[in-house]
Amino acid sequence: MTNDNYATDDRIMQLFWDWFDPCPLTDNFKVDGLKMVWCDRTYVNPPYSHPEPWIDKAIEENKKGKLIVMLLRMDTSTKWFKKLQEHGAVFLWINGRLRFNNLKPANFPSMLVILYKNHSFEG
Ligand SMILES: C[S@@+](CC[C@H](N)C(=O)[O-])C[C@H]1O[C@@H](n2cnc3c(N)ncnc32)[C@H](O)[C@@H]1O
Repeated sequence: MTNDNYATDDRIMQLFWDWFDPCPLTDNFKVDGLKMVWCDRTYVNPPYSHPEPWIDKAIEENKKGKLIVMLLRMDTSTKWFKKLQEHGAVFLWINGRLRFNNLKPANFPSMLVILYKNHSFEG
């Protein structure tokens, strides 16, 4: 991936098409999604070059009672993964490889991360 403009695979977008998106696809965003108040149902496919501020923001908004789903690279070695785990996020592994922009398959595995309202799953 050479930039951050990767549209969600249609197979995932079918699930979240009417959810609030704080970082819609654009070359030149005018409204900073990190500074907005997020909606009750927010779907986030953040810039892959620097996802951590989006994870911090998602945790902050979830603490205020928002249901948040994030599409992220499956990378359990990162600091941001540990933050999500400690927060009680649920990780859903996606089989195979997504097709960002519906083009060729990504060269890494992906996951959906769910931050439920006032709730986490243990065991
Ligand atoms: C991986 S793309 C996801 C696009 C779209 N949300 C989707 O799922 O198809 C991330 C987008 O976020 C935009 N972006 C980056 N930083 C942003 C910010 N601070 N506020 C709003 N958008 C931002 C980028 O320009 C890029 O188009």
